Amino acid sequence: MGIKFIFLAIFLAETIFLLVNAEPVEDKQALLDFIHNISHSRPLNWDVNSSACNSWTGVTCNHDKSRVIAIRLPGFGFHGSIPSNTLSRLSALQILSLRSNRISGSFPSDFSNLGNLTLLYLQLNKFSGPLPLDFSVWMNLSVINLSNNGFNGSIPYSIANLTHLTTLNLANNSFSGKIPELNLPSLQLLDLSDNNLTGSVPRSLQRFPNSAFSGNNLSTESSPPPLPLVPSLPPLPPPEARQSKTPTKLSESAMLGIIIGGCALGFVVLAFLMIACYSKEKGENRVPTKPHKKEESVKKVVSRIEHGNGDDKLVFFEGSNLAFDLEDLLRASAEVLGKGTLGTTYKAALDDAMTVVVKRLKEVSVAKREFQQQMEVVGNIKHENIAALRAYYYSKDEKLIVYDYYSSGSLSAILHAKRGENQSPLDWETRLRIAIGAARGVAHIHTQNGGKLVHGNIKASNIFLNSQQYGCVSVLGLAPLTGSTTPPVMQTAGYRARK
Ligand SMILES: *[C@@H]1O[C@H](CO)[C@@H](O)[C@H](O)[C@H]1NC(C)=O
Ligand SMILES: *[C@@H]1O[C@H](CO)[C@@H](O)[C@H](O)[C@H]1NC(C)=O
Ligand SMILES: *[C@@H]1O[C@H](CO)[C@@H](O)[C@H](O)[C@H]1NC(C)=O
Ligand SMILES: *[C@@H]1O[C@H](CO)[C@@H](O)[C@H](O)[C@H]1NC(C)=O
Ligand SMILES: *[C@@H]1O[C@H](CO)[C@@H](O)[C@H](O)[C@H]1NC(C)=O
Ligand SMILES: *[C@@H]1O[C@H](CO)[C@@H](O)[C@H](O)[C@H]1NC(C)=O
Ligand SMILES: *[C@@H]1O[C@H](CO)[C@@H](O)[C@H](O)[C@H]1NC(C)=O
Ligand SMILES: *[C@@H]1O[C@H](CO)[C@@H](O)[C@H](O)[C@H]1NC(C)=O
Ligand SMILES: *[C@@H]1O[C@H](CO)[C@@H](O)[C@H](O)[C@H]1NC(C)=O
Ligand SMILES: *[C@@H]1O[C@H](CO)[C@@H](O)[C@H](O)[C@H]1NC(C)=O
Repeated sequence: MGIKFIFLAIFLAETIFLLVNAEPVEDKQALLDFIHNISHSRPLNWDVNSSACNSWTGVTCNHDKSRVIAIRLPGFGFHGSIPSNTLSRLSALQILSLRSNRISGSFPSDFSNLGNLTLLYLQLNKFSGPLPLDFSVWMNLSVINLSNNGFNGSIPYSIANLTHLTTLNLANNSFSGKIPELNLPSLQLLDLSDNNLTGSVPRSLQRFPNSAFSGNNLSTESSPPPLPLVPSLPPLPPPEARQSKTPTKLSESAMLGIIIGGCALGFVVLAFLMIACYSKEKGENRVPTKPHKKEESVKKVVSRIEHGNGDDKLVFFEGSNLAFDLEDLLRASAEVLGKGTLGTTYKAALDDAMTVVVKRLKEVSVAKREFQQQMEVVGNIKHENIAALRAYYYSKDEKLIVYDYYSSGSLSAILHAKRGENQSPLDWETRLRIAIGAARGVAHIHTQNGGKLVHGNIKASNIFLNSQQYGCVSVLGLAPLTGSTTPPVMQTAGYRARK
C-alpha cells in the first residue's frame, strides 16, 4: 500500500512537471508572427518568455499543451488585414474569435489550412470581398458568424456540405445573388438579413422566420409552400359571430358527447405534456451544453450594474487568459448553478463558446479598498487544486466574482446526481483523488498571506474536479467579506478550518 502510494506520488509529480513545462513552440511562434504584423489598440500580454498556454490572453491549448486549439480576441482593436501565413499555421485550431475588431481585407485564403475549425466568429469587422468558394475544407464547422462586415458576392453553395452546421449568421453584409438550397437538418439559427440577396427563399430554409431574410430584395411569390403537416381545418367564424351565437340550446346527448370528448382530449394533452417534460429533463441531463429556453442574460439577473462611472469594469488578475469585458459578460446567458449563504452562483455562457462561473455576492460588508485587498490575495493564488479566481467587479450595489467553469460540476452535484443506467457510482479511486486534491488545495491556502488565510467554507458544493480529475477547492477567502455581524458559526454550513 505504502509503496504504491509513493510510486503514485512520483508518477504524479512527473506528469505535473511535464504538463507545466510543455509549450506548443511552433504555434507560439505563429501567434507572435501574427501579433507583430497587425496593429492593435488594446495591450496584449503575449510575452515571448511566458507560457502561451497558461498566461497569454485569449489563448487556449489542448490537454497536453502541445497545440493551440482556441483563440478568442474580441474587441482588441485589431486593424488592417490578417497577415498571411500566421494564424493559418495553427492547424489544430477549433475556435477562432476575432469579433468586434476593425479587421479589413478579404477572407484569409490560407484559413483553408484550419481543417479542424468548429466555431468561427468574425462578426463586427470590416472584411470585404467574396467568401471562398469551397467550404468543404472546414467539415467540422458548426457555427459561422460573419455578420456586420462588408462581404459581397454570392453565398457559396458548398456551405450545403457542412453537415454539422448549427448557426449561420451572414446578416448585414453585401451578399448578392440567390440563396442556395441548404439541406442541413442540424441548422438551428439562420440570419441572412440586410444583404442584397435576390430570388426566393429556397424550400429547405422556409422553416426559418421571415426576419432571417428581411432587408433583401427577395421576391414574395416564393416556391410552393411545404405541404402542411396537419390537414387544414375550415376557418373559424370571426370572434364576434361566435359570441353572438352562444344562447343556442344543445341536446342532452350532444352535451354528453362534448363532456366525454373534452375529458378524453384533456387526458391526452396531459399525457403529452408529461411525456414532453420527462424527455426534456432526460435530454438536459444527457446534453448539458444544449441551450435551453429559460436562460436569461447575466444583465437581466444582475440588474444593479450602473454604467457611466469611470471604474466600471471587470478587474482581471495577472496571468488570466480570459479575453472579455463587462459588456460581454452582461450579454452572456446565465443559468443558476446554486444558491449559497454568500450569494447566487451562475454559469455564464459568453458569445464565443466560453463558459465561466459568476458568483454574485450578497451582503458584502467591507469597503472597496478592503474588498480589493482580499481579492488581490485570493486572486494571486495559483495552484492546480484551487479554482482560479479570474476577475471581479465591485460597485456600490453589485459585487461579482468570476471563476473558471468545471464541466463535471461540483462534488456535491456528482455525489447527489441521479444515476442512469450508464452512470456508474463514484468509484473509490476517484473519491481518493478528490480528497487528495482538496487536501492539497486547503494546505496551500494555509501557507498564503503569511499563514493568515483560511478557506472558511469547505463543503462538497465548493469542491470541483480539475482536468486531471483531482479535487479542486473553490470560493475561498470570501467569508470574511460578508455578514460580519452574524456569529462566524452561523455564517455558513461548511466546515471552517481555523489556524
Ligand atoms: C511578422 O513579424 C516578424 C517580426 O516580429 C517577422 O519576423 C515575420 O517574418 C513577420 N511575418 C509575416 C508573415 O509577415
Ligand atoms: C526572454 O529571456 C531571454 C533569456 O532568458 C532574455 O534574453 C530576453 O530579454 C527575454 N525577453 C523578454 C521580452 O523578456
Ligand atoms: C485535427 O485534430 C486532430 C486531433 O484532434 C489531429 O490529429 C488532426 O491532425 C487535426 N487536423 C488538422 C487538419 O490539423
Ligand atoms: C473533425 O472532428 C473530428 C472529431 O470531432 C476529428 O476526428 C477530425 O480530425 C476533425 N477534423 C476534420 C478535418 O474532420
Ligand atoms: C453573431 O453576431 C451578431 C453581431 O453581429 C450577434 O448579435 C449574434 O448574437 C451572433 N450570433 C451568434 C449565434 O453568435
Ligand atoms: C465586391 O467588392 C469589391 C470591392 O471590395 C468589388 O471590387 C467587387 O466587384 C465586388 N463584387 C461583387 C460581386 O459585388
Ligand atoms: C460537397 O463535397 C463534395 C466532395 O467532398 C463535392 O464533390 C461536392 O461538390 C460538394 N458539394 C457542394 C455543394 O459543394
Ligand atoms: C450594418 O453595418 C453597418 C456598418 O457596416 C452599421 O452601421 C449598421 O448599424 C449595421 N446595421 C445593423 C442592423 O446592425
Ligand atoms: C444591391 O444590388 C443593386 C443591383 O444589383 C446595386 O445597385 C446596389 O448597389 C447593391 N447594394 C448593395 C448594398 O450592395
Ligand atoms: C430588386 O430586384 C428586381 C428584380 O429582381 C430589380 O428590378 C430591382 O431593381 C431590385 N431592387 C433593388 C432595390 O435592388
